[in-house]
Amino acid sequence: MNRYVTGTVIKELREKNKMTQLQLAEKLGVSDKTISKWETGKGYPDITLLEPIASAFRISITELISGNTIRNENVSANMLKSKFYVCPICGNVIHSTGEAVIQCHGIALLPEEAEPTDEKHMIFIERVEDEYYVRIDHEMTKEHYISFVAALSSDEVKIVKLYPEGKSEVYFKFRGIKKILFFCNKDGLFESEIVKGIDDKESGYYYSKERKELEETAKIMFS
Ligand SMILES: [Fe+2]
Repeated sequence: MNRYVTGTVIKELREKNKMTQLQLAEKLGVSDKTISKWETGKGYPDITLLEPIASAFRISITELISGNTIRNENVSANMLKSKFYVCPICGNVIHSTGEAVIQCHGIALLPEEAEPTDEKHMIFIERVEDEYYVRIDHEMTKEHYISFVAALSSDEVKIVKLYPEGKSEVYFKFRGIKKILFFCNKDGLFESEIVKGIDDKESGYYYSKERKELEETAKIMFS
């Protein structure tokens, strides 16, 4: 028996599409009893029916199999709401302006949830004229490293790939950067917002001596 799709998903999609069991049955060339069997878990659709089922609900086969249809709320495609998908096998990085069903190496990827920076993943951001210098305080060994850094404004995204044994620093040169994200191969995605204030030196250094010293200096210089 092929359990590519569950009866619950079929029922949910059918009801969402305001279809009766008979209407769906007719579209698929099966009987309404068959639909009822699927929905109550007494039977499962044959794999050859996956495509017709998906097209009856006007969704992709991947959406049907993953059981969740994509509802994109970020229709205006604000880049600050960008999603990043990272393949755990090959490290492939996929950027999306909204939700999507994305697969790499046969794995359905979920968008990475960004965490605030912590004492093991500290970021140092400095604005030098119209350029942002970003440094992540983190080891860059083959086992544990920062694999990319991204800068986001409301209409632009720039992703810079980093490599083990390389430097964990990046320069960004574009206007209106509001957020910096970076990805640790072991600990996931981190984010830091650029807050105007301490002359754009911001975030991440909450726990460090250096951060405190910077703040002190900034106070003296700008107060
Ligand atoms: Fe890490």
